[in-house]
Amino acid sequence: MSADIIDGKLIAHYYREQLKEDISSLKENSVTPGLAVILVGDNHASHTYVKMKRKACSKLGIHSELYQFDETLTQQDLVAKIEELNCADHIHGILVQLPLPQHINPITIIETISPSKDVDGFHPVSIGKMVTNQDTFYSCTPFGIIKMLEYENIPIEGKHVVILGRSNIVGKPAGHLFLNRNATVTYCHSKTTNLSDYTKQADILVSAVGKSKFIRTEDIKQGAVVIDVGMNRDEEGRLCGDVDFNEVKEVAGKITPVPGGVGPMTITMLLYNTVKSAQMSLI
Ligand code: GUN
Repeated sequence: MSADIIDGKLIAHYYREQLKEDISSLKENSVTPGLAVILVGDNHASHTYVKMKRKACSKLGIHSELYQFDETLTQQDLVAKIEELNCADHIHGILVQLPLPQHINPITIIETISPSKDVDGFHPVSIGKMVTNQDTFYSCTPFGIIKMLEYENIPIEGKHVVILGRSNIVGKPAGHLFLNRNATVTYCHSKTTNLSDYTKQADILVSAVGKSKFIRTEDIKQGAVVIDVGMNRDEEGRLCGDVDFNEVKEVAGKITPVPGGVGPMTITMLLYNTVKSAQMSLI
């Protein structure tokens, strides 16, 4: 039997409709959520992501400002810009698009952003709160995955969640969000031996390794929930995930497609965090 497809576009739309109501209430209180987006250099993918994020803001009535800088921007000048935005009352979220040029230390930059405006959830204060199961801004892709599963009423408690990938943006925070919901979590990564022994045990498999068609039928337990975070290109240059979708959908219970799965949820959670920050500014 073929798996149910988890429609990320539809779910993202559902959450964005809810956010519209929150934004209306904020505007009744004379607050327009504001996001500052900082882009340094000319990384093509970064330009595309930033454009998508700002378009999503505009559709919902979130104010966004783009600060675009040449590759030669100094770290000192970038720090100064963030410090200025930290103090700007109309800005509730600050997003510095990564990667940054080699001469700029991303850790220093992330730590300069006020935790109260850290809508990416990358600041050590946000990470510490997440790890200790406190309310904070959560990293958008992992949080989007959780919100997707909640929408689909897929239980997490007691389930074995296997995460492939240990990046600071996706893999690591995803594990903590699942652990906070009482899952049993296994992390796998590029140095894991006999990977399939682990993936086959997963009730929920989250793949964020960035390798086309890396996950095959023989890696999956019958009926598993398969979440594909991969954004790769196949031999024909088409967008595809880490999972061999056509093959794995015959074994999995539920599966996210690429495109149209996790991707739309990531941006939705950025909007969610920006609205949440604006709401907190009223308290
Ligand atoms: N680069 C790739 N993904 C992200 C993200 O989620 N946020 C930021 N700021 N940069 C990224």
